[in-house]
Amino acid sequence: MSVERKIMKVLNGDTVTPPPVWIMRQAGRYLPEYRATRSKANGFLDLCYTPDLAVEVTLQPIHRYELDAAILFSDILVVPDALKRGVRFVEGEGPRLDPIDADGIAKLDASGMHDHLVPVYETVRRLRAELPAETTLLGFCGAPWTVATYMIAGKGTPDQAPARLFGYRERAAMERLLDILADMSAEYLIRQLDEGADAVQVFDSWASVLEEETFEAFCVRPMKRIVDKVRSAKPDAKIIGFPKGAGTLYRDYRQKTGVDALGLDWTVPLSLAAELQKEGPVQGNLDPMRVIAGRDAIREGVDRILDALGNGPLIFNLGHGITPQADPEDVGYLVNRVRGQA
Ligand code: CP3
Repeated sequence: MSVERKIMKVLNGDTVTPPPVWIMRQAGRYLPEYRATRSKANGFLDLCYTPDLAVEVTLQPIHRYELDAAILFSDILVVPDALKRGVRFVEGEGPRLDPIDADGIAKLDASGMHDHLVPVYETVRRLRAELPAETTLLGFCGAPWTVATYMIAGKGTPDQAPARLFGYRERAAMERLLDILADMSAEYLIRQLDEGADAVQVFDSWASVLEEETFEAFCVRPMKRIVDKVRSAKPDAKIIGFPKGAGTLYRDYRQKTGVDALGLDWTVPLSLAAELQKEGPVQGNLDPMRVIAGRDAIREGVDRILDALGNGPLIFNLGHGITPQADPEDVGYLVNRVRGQA
């Protein structure tokens, strides 16, 4: 790579000062330009599967804030959509799928997957061509456990009780589902890397609800399967793992899965984050509510993270996705504060 992509330097273990910054869910409803493009699409999935529109919304936060990474605009649920699980987004209610049971898992057929996902691959290719050379392009997918929680409940739930219950009652079917999703996800990420993604992030947004034993079986093991499969095709692939809410199990997760960088949620104490950073790059971890609370809360939170983690390999980010209530001007302040320009 002739141009220096700061996030790639950090993923290689270097310290970059000030740290590079991007924002989970940076292309989204808090931006008026996103809402304008969204209204042109025939629903949310259509936005994900129309490269012209997906490229446009991916680039919107880059144009506004010159962030150090663009993340492919898509959704973790395009994978179950490729498995024909009836994915739809109901306005004001979030995602809906046809709930799956053990019989449904036995009948899953991933054979048409890449055909279904061709528009996503095209979006990645066009993004790499259109992005500034210094901007890192991130691909992503959902982790098997998090995707499985939506497939089993058929919707989002407050604590993923249906999937936890299913995991105890139907352990073999659950493991089969996680293996299928891990293999599909690895292939999906390999294709994104082939089309020009520089690195990938795997979102395990619901790692927080697992106990110690199921964390190992449903989060760590499938993630290791993904990392191993991606690296066997792409030995130099850089992978960020985000097991949200993993708490004291974060260290174990990195050691056992082999991810290059850990995405930290905002509940991770900065003292623990600094310990984890001695073992490799970290990303995070500002509470998204600080962004809503305004500039004093942003300044205080940013400065604390920079004090604790700024002298090691850090990618600055929120500790989870930005919410629709964020004021785009305050997001600009956040980025400038990280860069020592506000
Ligand atoms: O970060 C980015 O800018 C890239 C795009 C991205 C989206 N979803 C777009 C989106 C990414 C990386 C995701 C990941 C995702 N999707 C996760 C994991 C990360 C996390 O936030 O926990 C999960 C669990 C999903 C599933 C999902 N998609 C839910 C639960 C919802 C509805 C909730 C909501 O915020 O409305 C979505 C919809 C969604 N995905 C939107 C966007 C911009 C909003 C849809 C809209 O425009 O109406």
